[in-house]
Amino acid sequence: KQRVFSGIQPSGGLTLGNYLGAIKRFVEKQHDGIETIYCVVDLHAITVWQDPEALRKQTRELTAGFIASGIDPEKSILFNQSQVTEHAQLGWIFNCVARMGWMQRMTQWKDKAGKNAQNASLGLFAYPSLMAADILLYHATEVPVGEDQKQHVELTRDIAIKFNHDYGVDFFPIPDPVIEGAATRVMSLRDGTKKMSKSDPSDASRINMTDDADTIAKKIRKAKTDPEALPSEIKGLDDRPDARNLVNIYAALADQSVDAVLAEVGGKQFSEFKPMLADLAVEKLSPISMEMQRLMQDPAEIDRILGRGAERAREIAAPILAKTYDIVGMIRS
Ligand code: TYM
Repeated sequence: KQRVFSGIQPSGGLTLGNYLGAIKRFVEKQHDGIETIYCVVDLHAITVWQDPEALRKQTRELTAGFIASGIDPEKSILFNQSQVTEHAQLGWIFNCVARMGWMQRMTQWKDKAGKNAQNASLGLFAYPSLMAADILLYHATEVPVGEDQKQHVELTRDIAIKFNHDYGVDFFPIPDPVIEGAATRVMSLRDGTKKMSKSDPSDASRINMTDDADTIAKKIRKAKTDPEALPSEIKGLDDRPDARNLVNIYAALADQSVDAVLAEVGGKQFSEFKPMLADLAVEKLSPISMEMQRLMQDPAEIDRILGRGAERAREIAAPILAKTYDIVGMIRS
């Protein structure tokens, strides 16, 4: 049976990168015959200190972002991680399966901890092991993510394989990362070689899902480009990271292939292409940000949705954790 799991951290506002690389594709997975489980990973967020009040607000805002983008909390299971305690419990077991060396090789750990690794939280180091627990707790088979999470999903596979091997069982399925579409790596609008990120100090580097139409248009107008006209074929984007990024964003927003977009806009100058992109972005994103604002007016309803999602998640997770405990040799009496 096909079961999809993915998560997003409530560690800041939602960006266009999260939307195109993740949420938009989560929505596409949501059809008959596929079970879709989407999680606001608050336990992951606190691997870096979060102001408690801000964390609550961002958790609700991210939930509103999921729903406003088209995640239906009836069709999908939508919840926040900390309400299903099994995540932390399975995470501990996987801390005992994963190896220090595996964690040390994670590029996200190296980037985030930097030279000051001694001062990073132990949770930040163990982060991928909790992520493996998120996925394997549901025996998920597919994990839609952006390019930057590929290594973590591969580590999840390694943990599943080692667990099965160490205990001589065939219990955890080996999940596949699903990295599809034109926008698996949305780059900064200020530097096409850097990922668009909620933690970039420059707000002009990203489009936030809460930006209004004027702000979106202004950020696109000011986006870094080169002086050349747009090419009519993909290979013409080689060594033009800024141009490539804007074309990818256009293709993803328009649900077109990059080839089809270039066939249409090849030969145009950025002075002509940027307003087209800005109009498209406003057309696609404004309804989402307006719906998010509307949903945010009723935080109690959002909390109710998360609570109900958590109950449904636990129905799947609890028996899988119990079985894991049995396999490992824990007494449950
Ligand atoms: P996070 O919160 O950093 O990002 C959430 C999702 O958005 C994607 N993404 C991007 N995609 C394209 N271009 C970008 N610039 C961009 N920025 C972010 C990410 O690839 C991700 O899919 N560790 C995860 C959260 C997580 C998770 C999981 C994911 C926890 N448990 C289990 C899948 C399954 C993270 O930090 O994502």
